[in-house]
Amino acid sequence: MSKESIESLLRANQQWVEEELIKDPNFFKELAKGQTPQFLWIGCSDSRVPADRITGTKPGEIFVHRNIANLVLHTDLNMLSVLEYAVAYLKVKHIIVCGHYGCGGVRAAISRNNYELLNKWLRNIKDIYVKNEALLHAIPDSVDRENALVELSIKQQIENLMKTSVVQKAWHLGEDLTLHGMVYDLTNGRLQQLIQYDRNSPLPEIYRFYFDED
Ligand code: CO
Repeated sequence: MSKESIESLLRANQQWVEEELIKDPNFFKELAKGQTPQFLWIGCSDSRVPADRITGTKPGEIFVHRNIANLVLHTDLNMLSVLEYAVAYLKVKHIIVCGHYGCGGVRAAISRNNYELLNKWLRNIKDIYVKNEALLHAIPDSVDRENALVELSIKQQIENLMKTSVVQKAWHLGEDLTLHGMVYDLTNGRLQQLIQYDRNSPLPEIYRFYFDED
């Protein structure tokens, strides 16, 4: 069902408030006290991939960061701030990087179209393509090739998370933190785990930081 006006959004909000209060009169009072989510979701901004809806999580249960094509870039202050807050302060137990088949960002990166400012963002996906060119060129069907790049990118983003001092510090401190690479299928609504990384997963030594014992 599509919403056509701002008024319809506000009406839907009012209705949602009433429904939640019927189920639990203290619903908002309790939520206002604070949050202790167990999950950080890093997903695509695509309107068809709503993190909470597809995972059945309720308000307070999933901390969310979304950007075009669910990238984890070490120069992205926004993503890094979300990551640090979620891991160091909220102490989430799981970080999910969720990509999706049919991703417009990945499709745009494969094309040679000029998207001006977006080129700089999509360059990161082009680099993953080139890094895996032999594997991708061996796939004859263009949709299959695009889907393979979606999956390769998810794996790359998980590796990028491992390269952050935020994740490494949590592991150094003995925190229970697992990284999950997942892919969502727009055509059937299914979410599937592709990879799972923890402190023992491989990472070239040069990316591993020293942490002072204190
Ligand atoms: Co997308």
